Amino acid sequence: MIALLKHLHITFALLSFLGFFLRGIWMIKGSSLLKRKPVKVLPHINDTLLLVSAIALAVVIGYSPMQHGWLLTKIVALFVYIGLGVLAFRHPKRPVRIGAWVTALVVFLYIVSVAFSKDPLGFFYPIT
Ligand code: HEM
Repeated sequence: MIALLKHLHITFALLSFLGFFLRGIWMIKGSSLLKRKPVKVLPHINDTLLLVSAIALAVVIGYSPMQHGWLLTKIVALFVYIGLGVLAFRHPKRPVRIGAWVTALVVFLYIVSVAFSKDPLGFFYPIT
């Protein structure tokens, strides 16, 4: 059960990253593909599944965000990633959209580093 949930969790995370990266390239190129219905709807479904699988995994393993700082960090950072994603595709100014997209990609990689290190510092650890 734990292994299955973890695989699902990592799959949704990977799909989220790949989809976000691709939509960013389309945004920069001004592609009309961004206006297609599946391109607009699928990321919301995937991000919901990512969050649901994450919470289910934490519950099944028995981790609490109040006891594990890295888990709370991941939850907060996931909302930051989603918020930056909204800015990246909805803000009227192109430089803001591109800046939000690049920052969101860095936040995503930070979440992955927190996931593997199980430390809220993640990839910032070496500079402390
Ligand atoms: C973009 C968001 C996220 C990404 C990229 C991500 C990525 C990952 C990765 C790569 C692992 C496997 C780590 C390993 O095998 O050691 C993992 C495990 C896990 N994640 Fe996430 N995660 C995200 C969001 C979340 C959130 C919001 C939660 C909190 C509810 C969460 C809870 C967990 C738990 C409980 C594990 C299992 C840790 C263990 O094996 O002991 N994740 N995540």
